[in-house]
Amino acid sequence: MTGFVHIDDVARIFGPNLTTGERIAAKLGGKVETRSVRAVSDVSLSVRKGETLGLVGESGCGKSTLGRVIAGILPPTSGTVTIDGTPVMENGTKITTRVQTVFQDPFASLDPRMKVGDTVSEGPIAHGLTTKANARTYVAEWFTRVGLDPVWVDRYPHQFSGGQRQRIAIARALAMQPDVLICDEPVASLDVSIQAQIINLFLELTRDLGLTTVFISHDLSVVQHVSDRVAVMYLGRIVELGPVANVFGTPAHPYTKALFGSVPKLVLDADELVKFDTIDGEVPSPLSPPSGCYYHPRCPYATEVCKAEQPQTEDLSDVRAVACHHFQRVLDSTKDVRAVPE
Ligand SMILES: Nc1ncnc2c1ncn2[C@@H]1O[C@H](COP(=O)(O)OP(=O)(O)OP(=O)(O)O)[C@@H](O)[C@H]1O
Ligand code: SF4
Ligand SMILES: [Mg+2]
Repeated sequence: MTGFVHIDDVARIFGPNLTTGERIAAKLGGKVETRSVRAVSDVSLSVRKGETLGLVGESGCGKSTLGRVIAGILPPTSGTVTIDGTPVMENGTKITTRVQTVFQDPFASLDPRMKVGDTVSEGPIAHGLTTKANARTYVAEWFTRVGLDPVWVDRYPHQFSGGQRQRIAIARALAMQPDVLICDEPVASLDVSIQAQIINLFLELTRDLGLTTVFISHDLSVVQHVSDRVAVMYLGRIVELGPVANVFGTPAHPYTKALFGSVPKLVLDADELVKFDTIDGEVPSPLSPPSGCYYHPRCPYATEVCKAEQPQTEDLSDVRAVACHHFQRVLDSTKDVRAVPE
């Protein structure tokens, strides 16, 4: 498949990061965690130019780690990320401005002591996208573009609402004129009414600027709304990938099926008690993942082969792939079931 962003066999392992005291304690046989966390394993995928790829999965499955590796914030332990053939990092250092990031918490990502206009212009001045003399006009243009009044450039972050601060964070990312935007839970900290405005702003800007986007979110309805394709992660691996309508409508992986079935639904039973549907079992620790398919302890389709062999990723079409020994059984069982959250 032709791609613009290529993620090639990327893994990211976090070492135990022990203090000197902990290292000594470990040597003396003390109870210190010395194992490494495989946050991301064997991830290969391509994102096409102008495409929005949604990235979903339960907490701790490696979405943010993968997003940070793609953004060049975190070096991969192995593998490479390229944009239009050019590496994002070299010797552990980001060497491009073509990819920028918008995070969940705009308050944490904006310097409280800096005027927001200065925060937005800092990067573009440093990289020659504008000059100090023209910075105010440059920032004002981006403020207008994200729906902020340009007269606010001299204000500080605390003088804005949460939604406005996220608009500033978006302006800061876009003022770097990226080709690729990594959005990590960009609306999760906002009120529901504001979420819709920010999502619409994203849709408008990605379309108008022709951005290629990776959109990480817990909220499946948001991912369904904004994405062209969706990648489902489980314990550091991509287990299913495909166009939103296919993956949401007829999931081929049992985890995808369970994840989409677990979208919180308020159900009033006969006694008027409120229930939530959840996925059975817990995500295993990435410190000691299960043998074979990582999902097998929770999977209703599991057989002996699943405990012994890790499934390879198989292409179901040129845009859809799944890593499951029994995907055909899963597809057959979901054919007539629309597991799409409304
Ligand atoms: N800097 C770090 N050092 C050690 N372990 C880390 C570090 N960052 C992440 N991890 C571990 O890597 C795994 C993946 O974490 P990550 O934050 O990527 O998951 P996530 O899918 O984004 O979760 P969430 O949905 O809660 O944001 C987790 O087990 C986490 O504890
Ligand atoms: S490989 Fe086996 S355990 Fe893993 S998801 Fe498929 S059926 Fe379930
Ligand atoms: Mg995260």
